[in-house]
Amino acid sequence: MNTLNFLKKIEINSLVDFRGSLDVAELSALNDFVVKRVYYISNVPKGEERGAHAHKSLKQVFFAINGSFTLKVTDGVNFDSVQINAHSYGYYLPSGFWRDLSDFSQDAICLVLASEFYDPTDYIYTIDEFREWRIFLENS
Ligand code: TYD
Repeated sequence: MNTLNFLKKIEINSLVDFRGSLDVAELSALNDFVVKRVYYISNVPKGEERGAHAHKSLKQVFFAINGSFTLKVTDGVNFDSVQINAHSYGYYLPSGFWRDLSDFSQDAICLVLASEFYDPTDYIYTIDEFREWRIFLENS
């Protein structure tokens, strides 16, 4: 059963033949998403985690180019958790959510498409500050 609350599944069309694999994702369902930045994470040691922050404005799409990892997101109350595998699905995360990336396979490469240029002031680094920020938003 698909119980996703916040993450939006992005279909990947895998074209495989004797020459190898070509994977395609079209972002036509993401109306207001424009890619301004691309980065990728690799060589994550066993047991290490990434993320552990929220973005106030940034929207992102996560793919596994190789291997797999787990993406957990929360609005402070409800959670989504997905394992992202190469050649399977990508996931769109809107702005305003806390995220944790874990369970990286040794060969995992996490590709992230980002809607804005790098901006350290867009980050929230503690879950308590994130919850306060969400409450402030909901009440303003
Ligand atoms: P961070 O966003 O915390 O990565 P992750 O969520 O995977 O743990 O960034 C890690 C470091 O890289 C931090 O010092 C900021 C720097 N960084 C940039 O300089 N530019 C970027 O586009 C990104 C994503 C990170």
